[in-house]
Amino acid sequence: MKVVKTIQEVRDYVVAWRKAGLSVGLVPTMGYLHEGHQSLIRKSVEQNDRTVVSVFVNPIQFGPNEDLEAYPRDLNRDMKAVEEAGGDLIFNPEPEEMYRGHFTSFIDTTETTELLCGAVRPVHFRGVCTVVGKLFNIVQPDRAYFGQKDAQQLATIRRFVRDLNFPVEIVPCPIVREADGLAKSSRNTYLNVEERKAALILSQSLKKGKSAIEQGERDAQRVIDIIRKNLETEPMARIDYVEVVDFENIQRVAEIKGETLVAIAVYIGKTRLIDNFIVDVK
Ligand code: PAJ
Repeated sequence: MKVVKTIQEVRDYVVAWRKAGLSVGLVPTMGYLHEGHQSLIRKSVEQNDRTVVSVFVNPIQFGPNEDLEAYPRDLNRDMKAVEEAGGDLIFNPEPEEMYRGHFTSFIDTTETTELLCGAVRPVHFRGVCTVVGKLFNIVQPDRAYFGQKDAQQLATIRRFVRDLNFPVEIVPCPIVREADGLAKSSRNTYLNVEERKAALILSQSLKKGKSAIEQGERDAQRVIDIIRKNLETEPMARIDYVEVVDFENIQRVAEIKGETLVAIAVYIGKTRLIDNFIVDVK
């Protein structure tokens, strides 16, 4: 397993692999890797001859009052995690390598980024799509792996890849959770002991919503109400949003049918956590 810092070095590796007829998978991350990230790496290792993991805390996807500075970084820990999962190469550029000089070009999306995190984090998805598009051009992978943990991100990347004809297959991967149900996230490290306990309310509330749907509930508003009511029982939780949307376009639905995303964002203390589930109702 190797670590490189420059675009040229990544390209040299990929060119050599291509010459040898090898397929390439890409797992974009912001580092501080956990088992959620490792599940993506393992999937890529299974499906490709070589796997590149990018570790880059992308400044342009953070708003002015967000946690860019505080975001946890630990390359040694990430090297162990990638090695353990079977990855071949870490691409760990400095911001200056990715955004040289006077940077003025962006991948901007509509529709899928109007609601949920897009509504409350205005520059976020433009930053995500731009860096992911750059990584696709730098690595030119056959396949790229994204977690359903960030379902709106997944739907949005799928869309720009289709709309802009990027020659890459997007492979979605299921959410990996802690034993008690909390979705794994690098941001969970912000939680103190008390907050960590309170954070369980996210997965518990979603479970209530999901079982209502499994028992036949098809009214989106009633599912939202069930989830909200349950979240409100936790005094440390402050709801950012609870939404029911179609997974394809990320637009609100009144009735639950087809592939439907039920997504929440909740502050536990100062930490904003997201979680979701997807149902496919025939
Ligand atoms: P990051 O939050 O590091 O996540 C990298 C990838 O890991 C994303 O595709 C995310 O959905 C996936 N992931 C995170 N937690 C997961 C979990 N518990 N189970 C399954 N998958 C999980 O998402 C980003 O970074 C950035 O926005 C990025 C795409 C790298 C662009 O900067």
